[in-house]
Formats: sequence, C-alpha cells, structure tokens
Amino acid sequence: MNLPLNISALSLPLPTASPQFIDLYRPGTDAQAGQATAQELADGLTAPAASVSPKFFYNELGSKLFEAITGLDEYYPTRTEAGIFEAAHADIADTLAAAGITRPCLIDLGAGNCAKAMTLIPHLQPRQYVPVDISVEFLRDAAEQVQNSFPALDIVGVGMDFSAGLALPDEVQAYERVFFYPGSSLGNFHPAQALQFLKHIADPAQGKARGLLMGIDLVKDTARLEAAYDDALGVTGAFNKNLLLNVNDLLGSDFDVRQWRHVALFNVAESRIEMHLEAMQELTVRWPGHARNFMAGERIHTECSYKYTVDGMTALLRQAGFKHIEYWTDPDSWFAVFWAAV
Ligand code: AVJ
Repeated sequence: MNLPLNISALSLPLPTASPQFIDLYRPGTDAQAGQATAQELADGLTAPAASVSPKFFYNELGSKLFEAITGLDEYYPTRTEAGIFEAAHADIADTLAAAGITRPCLIDLGAGNCAKAMTLIPHLQPRQYVPVDISVEFLRDAAEQVQNSFPALDIVGVGMDFSAGLALPDEVQAYERVFFYPGSSLGNFHPAQALQFLKHIADPAQGKARGLLMGIDLVKDTARLEAAYDDALGVTGAFNKNLLLNVNDLLGSDFDVRQWRHVALFNVAESRIEMHLEAMQELTVRWPGHARNFMAGERIHTECSYKYTVDGMTALLRQAGFKHIEYWTDPDSWFAVFWAAV
C-alpha cells in the first residue's frame, strides 16, 4: 500500500520510556501478605482502645484526598515546606556538594505524587530517583509523570510498606544514597519508633545513606494546628473516613462510613495531632470470623501527627547517629527542613 506521505517525517510526539517499577506491596493479591495485613487490622480493631495505622489512609482514593488536602487553605504544611525549599534549594545543593555528595541516588520515602521531589531534582541532579510508596497504583502514575518531566532520569519506582523495613530491591543503586522524607511524614511515628526508623536510615550497614533531607512540622498554637486537620470543606474528614473503606477492602469488614464522625484534636502533653473516627451510635462491625461492638461515642484512633521543636528534632537526629545537622525554616517557624548527614 502506498501512503500519500512519509509518516516518519511527521513530528509525532515520541512515547516517553516508562520508569522501572517494582511492586513489593500486594496485600490484595498475595495471600500471605494479605493474611498479615488482615491480622494487623484485626488486632487494632479488637484492642480495647481500637486503632488502625495511618498507613491505611493511602489507597488510591486516599492518596487523591491527601493531594486535595495539600491544596487547602487550612493545611499550611505543604505550601510552607515548598516555600522553604524554594528559598533554600541552592543552599541545600551547596551543603550536599560540600559534604562531597554529587549526583546521589535520591530515595523518596512516601513519595505520593512526587511533587516535592520534582522541584528538588533539577537542583540535586540525582543519578537515580527512587520514589517509594504504599499507594502502589497512585505511585505508578506519579512516576510516569516524573519520567515525562525528566526523560533522561533513571527512575525506579518501588511499591512497598517501608514502615516494615527498608530493604530496597537490587535495581536501586547501592552508593551515595540520599533519603528524602518530606511532608512531616516522620510525625506519624511515635517518637520511639521515629528514633528506630532514623537509626535504621543512619546505620551504614542498613540504609547505606549519606544523609537524610527531611521536612517536619513544628509546634504552634492549637487553633492553627486543629484547623489544619479539621478543614471547613470536610476534605480531611473524608480522608479519615476513607480509611474505613480501605479496611473494608482489605479485611472484608462492613464499616458504614455514615455512622462515623471525624475528630481531630491537638494533644498538648504528647505534642501530637490525633485523628479519630467516632461512632455516632451503638453499632457492630463484622468481618470474616469476627465482630466488634462500638458504643456511641467510642473511637478508633487513626493517626498521630507529632509536632516537633527544632531543638527536639536536632536531639532526635543526633541520638539516631547523624553527625552533621543543618536546618531551614520559614519566617514564621511553622515548619522546618533538616539535612542530617551520616
Ligand atoms: C502525610 C502524615 C504528613 O500528618 O499532616 C494530613 C497526613 N493527616 N491531614 C500529616 C494528614 C491529615 C499528613 N502526613
């Protein structure tokens, strides 16, 4: 067949290479992983004070709702952190260069939509970018976006629950690793767990890290903190309740989100935001082989988001074994970005 013109001469957009992607988190499809997840959920739900880990916020809808939260007026952390990075990018790059770190492998823990890393990549010029997230399909899409923006960048997306350990696949380069942990995600750990996690990163035998670039939310007045976790539109409430839908999928439970109310409060003594779901009536939740009764007003604790002081975080990083620590804050000292070198 003769074509009227030479197709190869047309300027069609070239398909961008897809990033490598390795899924190590398959609770839905992997029978054993599914068992462990169901057990973890059942243990939390049957405890006298019921709880579910905040990692279960992040199914695909949960990641989208969190992305919406980051655009809310009340939710200051994301834009405040972005402002710090914008002002300090060159300084951060200089600091890493002065430590002899050039073109590292950048490991983005809880990468989500990868938006924070996308602003950092031009400055850090990583040799390899490794976004890691428990929200596998959301991350797969986000990694494609990063590849579109940086076609030449070596990207290895990893779907995994890194709260269980940081064993990265062989595709991840072993040398000059910089861990990127923005967004105050470390705040989800209790301080003792946070210390363990930081030690794990700092341990040269484990994380093989040269350093950690981390964003952390700082202590401030209660009203501003609580508004950030209980916005007027109710997006955070939807994000909180969506956890029940994810639990229904993973555990086979029959939670009805309409029976639950979103609660967010700042616990001053513990220096943490707590999110709970409160039963609005007496009810029973059932799942295969189990049932749990809730009284009206009884709560499921779904999240702790610890707020630190600069001094408190500096002490924690030192205790974890980091040798050299620097930080940047915004003019109001609402949020801090730390560089901690191993
Ligand atoms: C992603 C854990 C940093 O604690 O601020 C946002 C999650 N929860 N609104 C936070 C969250 C409710 C967020 N982190």
